[in-house]
Amino acid sequence: MAARMDVRIKEEFSDYDYSSFYYSSSDDVFAILDPYTRWYDEAQLRGYHLYAQPMSTRPRTRIDLEDKLDRKRVNLLNLSSYNYLGLSYRAEVLDAARRALDQYGLGASGSPVLSGTMDVHLELERELAAFKRKPAAMLFPTGYSTNVGLIQGLMRPGDLIVADQNSHASIVDGAILSKAEVRFFKHNLPEEVERKLRGATGKKLVIVEGVYSMDGDVCRLPEIVEIARRHGARVMIDEAHSSFIYGESGRGVAEHFGLEDEIDIHVGTLSKALGGQGGFVAGSESLYKYLQGFARARLFSCALSPVVAAGVLEALRIAAREPELRARLWDNVAYIRSRLREEGIDTGESTSQVIPVLVRNDRRIFEIARRLQDAGLYLQPIVYPAVAKHRSRFRISVSAAHTREQLDEGVGILARVLREEGVR
Ligand SMILES: Cc1ncc(COP(=O)(O)O)c(C=O)c1O
Repeated sequence: MAARMDVRIKEEFSDYDYSSFYYSSSDDVFAILDPYTRWYDEAQLRGYHLYAQPMSTRPRTRIDLEDKLDRKRVNLLNLSSYNYLGLSYRAEVLDAARRALDQYGLGASGSPVLSGTMDVHLELERELAAFKRKPAAMLFPTGYSTNVGLIQGLMRPGDLIVADQNSHASIVDGAILSKAEVRFFKHNLPEEVERKLRGATGKKLVIVEGVYSMDGDVCRLPEIVEIARRHGARVMIDEAHSSFIYGESGRGVAEHFGLEDEIDIHVGTLSKALGGQGGFVAGSESLYKYLQGFARARLFSCALSPVVAAGVLEALRIAAREPELRARLWDNVAYIRSRLREEGIDTGESTSQVIPVLVRNDRRIFEIARRLQDAGLYLQPIVYPAVAKHRSRFRISVSAAHTREQLDEGVGILARVLREEGVR
């Protein structure tokens, strides 16, 4: 099928990329759709078919996929899922979700401020707050809407947001929606935070991430918090990739650095280490009450499904009572990191379970990804707009569920294909 399509579609757009299709010169809103579709079809053949391949199994360490070019891929080694503690399919989690399905039905059927709050939501909020040792925690339908709702809910035109240049899209979008002034600082450089805050008056919020999602490096929190404090700025940390993983008790990078009380707003997702869906903000009671009224992404959206809330609640309890899961994850991270180093593979600045494998060739990476899949390894190519142009990479997500043999197998395939492709 691929070969037939190859013949049919000529390479009309080989010099274009995704960013060529933001604007068109026409007055018709739809004028961009046809050229984009033609580019998209061509891009599928050049490798975009590797995105959104439907998975027909749980996001286990081995998975089955439907290849969009017609092949069924079975038993691929999965180094792509966020399921860091292997909790998305733990038997107790699935049982809790099944019981909730029987009790509540499928969805919440209402906004959390109208009819959508169920007792399981409040129980989850209470346990998240207790876990984070904060007075309150508020649930949002997704991690994305958490950042959008929180930042838009708190910040106003004339205020200042100082955020890392590698901030997740949800932070950027929340900042845009708030209409506050946004100054991005060079990635993870405290002196740049200082520069952006210097001379600023009025309300100021510094936003960082615990572990940066595309590079896997850890925020230089102690220095940044000290600078923010000196300038009278509040600090928000998004621990999407570090909650339930970092720190002695899994409370995140803020715990890891002993800075939990220095941080005003703690954000986390339920979609990564806990294997479910949703996001949360942990902080003061007054922050909770204010956001209840002003975080529009929550106010005007259906509450998280009670089925997911119940599953996540069980996953949270497991993460809290089984520190050995985190220990196993960190053993696996240390092991794969040493194997990658032995093979001379460039993993940038990562020190976490998110490990980029830098390829830096935005076109070639698709061919390499296809070869990896042919060899039995599922790794997603990450290109613009998820990362800057010419910073393309694969992103390894390590989980506590991987075995040493699987990690060896993955590194073996990766090293061989990268060597054959001349990438090091
Ligand atoms: C730093 C960060 N914040 C927020 C999100 C959004 O979380 P979710 O996927 O749960 O909506 C992500 C997702 O990857 C992320 O990496």
